[in-house]
Amino acid sequence: MARELIVALDEGTSNVKAVAIDASGKVVSKASRPLTVDTPRAGWVEQDGRVLLNASLTVLREVIQSVGENRVAALAISNQRETAMAWERATGQPIGPALTWQCSRSSAFCEQLRQEQQGDLIRSVTGLPIAPLFSASKMRWLLENTPNGVERAVNGEICLGTIDAWLLWHFTGGKQFRCDTSNAARTQLLNLRTGQWDEGMLALFGLPRAALPDIYPSSGLFGSTCGLSDLPDGLPIMAMVGDSHAALYGHGLGKAGGVKATYGTGSSVMAPLLTADTSITQLATTVAWHDGDRIVYGLEGNIPHTGDGVAWMAQATGLTDGKGQVLSRALDELPASIDSTLGVYFVPALTGTGAPWWDDQARGVICGLSRGVTPAHLIRASLEAIAYQIADVITSMRQHPDFHLETLMVDGGPTQNRWLMQFQADLLGCPVARSSTPELSALGAGLLARRALEQLNDGQLAALLPEHDRWLPDDARHQQLQLSWQGWREAVQRTLWQPA
Ligand code: G3P
Repeated sequence: MARELIVALDEGTSNVKAVAIDASGKVVSKASRPLTVDTPRAGWVEQDGRVLLNASLTVLREVIQSVGENRVAALAISNQRETAMAWERATGQPIGPALTWQCSRSSAFCEQLRQEQQGDLIRSVTGLPIAPLFSASKMRWLLENTPNGVERAVNGEICLGTIDAWLLWHFTGGKQFRCDTSNAARTQLLNLRTGQWDEGMLALFGLPRAALPDIYPSSGLFGSTCGLSDLPDGLPIMAMVGDSHAALYGHGLGKAGGVKATYGTGSSVMAPLLTADTSITQLATTVAWHDGDRIVYGLEGNIPHTGDGVAWMAQATGLTDGKGQVLSRALDELPASIDSTLGVYFVPALTGTGAPWWDDQARGVICGLSRGVTPAHLIRASLEAIAYQIADVITSMRQHPDFHLETLMVDGGPTQNRWLMQFQADLLGCPVARSSTPELSALGAGLLARRALEQLNDGQLAALLPEHDRWLPDDARHQQLQLSWQGWREAVQRTLWQPA
């Protein structure tokens, strides 16, 4: 039988998935596992890198065994971005937790950079604002909190990497220390114009080049599997890409003008850009992907808490089951069972705010409480917060001359909530189009792998893209919601350490 399947991994924060994708772009097998996140102190968020690795191998094994290993042509990886790992080169053992993208433990160093007025330089080189979200300040923290960390890193004894590099290292039996350009772009160490590590940024963050992986295009050969139990040796890994970027690719948005929002633990709103234009200061400019032929850039707003704001609220209001999962009625029935939140706003700045506010000292608020407020109003407020935060980012994107909001393309777990999709369409006053393939990040990574493997052209790739379901806005409701959106913006001001 021909090797026609790509098996794509989507290593996220809340869960890890693997899917097998056939030559027509259809998902033919899938497996997933939930993941836990630890918050040892206020603002600190971490995971265990070994758990991420083992859960990734478990779902890959499950899918590869279900389809038969002789049908698998290649692997592809999409991953949670910005999360930083440090490990020993000699053993592959982590030397600290995975400091996840939500973690703001490096905010003191970020504040020092702001005081030193480094913001304009950092933005012009890397496209990113100063924020603990990005990997560089987390990597610095990891070295500073390891005995002789800097010295050992300079000597090449310590590897620093994003999750793609961590997984690839182990998938290839420690043979390949590489990351892709999109993940490198999230570290705050990549020079957007050269596509390589920037010496000035390495010096500013105190990180030695010897500790960092080599940067490769998102699509192409990264290495082959080696020495993994119950998995074949020699399977090529043909794509690695950040999850949000993979979703943009999976929506088929490679030309300026489109925009997509990935709804997950947090959310990423991204619009393709044809140049590395860093002029919109509330947003990040990043590499969307490098497919070997060209680099596509992206204008992005990162929002740290959307789906997990809902999870937090469900927990706080007793709307979870024994395993801590949000009850389905909390999402499907309660929000639609009432007309409004009764004026309640929940701003889930649980470890700070991301775009467009960028205040890592901000903390969440629930405001507008009155006698009649019930858990239904509160859970609805947490869902509305997702839509408001995405709409705030889109407001900033409108400043870019190439940006046109015709349709918001969406993907990710929370987009299964039909009520939320209608609310988002009404709030923005534009259609919302949801990918019919829920595993869009994995699919996007799979398409990048197939492009490299079969040398597909743009037309052949377009034929493999998924269909979309649509929600159309209601004009009257759109007008009515503008007032509520203003109320939301006032609520956000209450969370900020330094209100505008
Ligand atoms: O930037 C962080 C993002 O990549 C995390 O994605 O899927 O874990 O919410 P997810």
